Amino acid sequence: MQNLVSASVLSADMLNLESEIRRLEASGIDMLHFDVMDGVFVDNITYGLPILEKVRSTTDMFLDVHLMITDPRRYVERFAAAGADLISFHLESASDTADTIRAIRAAGAKTAVALKPATPAEEVLKYLPELDLVLVMTVEPGFGGQSFIPETTSKVRTIRDRITALGLDTLVQVDGGINDKTAPIVKEAGANVLVSGSYLFGAKDMAAAAAGLKEEIIC
Ligand code: DX5
Ligand code: ZN
Repeated sequence: MQNLVSASVLSADMLNLESEIRRLEASGIDMLHFDVMDGVFVDNITYGLPILEKVRSTTDMFLDVHLMITDPRRYVERFAAAGADLISFHLESASDTADTIRAIRAAGAKTAVALKPATPAEEVLKYLPELDLVLVMTVEPGFGGQSFIPETTSKVRTIRDRITALGLDTLVQVDGGINDKTAPIVKEAGANVLVSGSYLFGAKDMAAAAAGLKEEIIC
């Protein structure tokens, strides 16, 4: 099966977001990755509900919302109502994990938990049956354009092995520093949803770059 590509709008031209979205749609991108940062959970501050509503109003693309905020439980209903198709929140946040997963599902969105690079894979395994996707951060959350951390690869493999052992269809997403060099490494380890910001938006031919990321690895 081909892999999926989620384009991080953090690297988009924010003054021309609508035309950037048209470019993503025309380039065979599967999802739009929307990074929400609160300046507390991570140092950076990005965008939130009003922009997500505007994005929703202009596209049918699958909206993959990555919450890097201190108390995601407090906001998941609002992000679902604003148009999120999937909501990921951090295991390291202050919210109760099981309760937040339940709230996301009850609000009608797909459920996902994200792990920072230093968080062991083992901490997410017990939640797998409740999750549509696990997000393995391959850089420290907070900023686009960072370099891939190779040590995160073994976490992808551990999570993929457990999903296979349990017979689940949970997706494994990687986020940070993904490009034509690092994509084969994470795909080989079992990732099947690749977030990419600076590589995709910086590519001369976005459609060709996306097609390369989506290519299946034949082991
Ligand atoms: C970082 C964000 C990423 C980021 C990826 O905290 O979660 O989604 O935009 O950007 P690149 O692909 O440039 O590393
Ligand atoms: Zn992200």
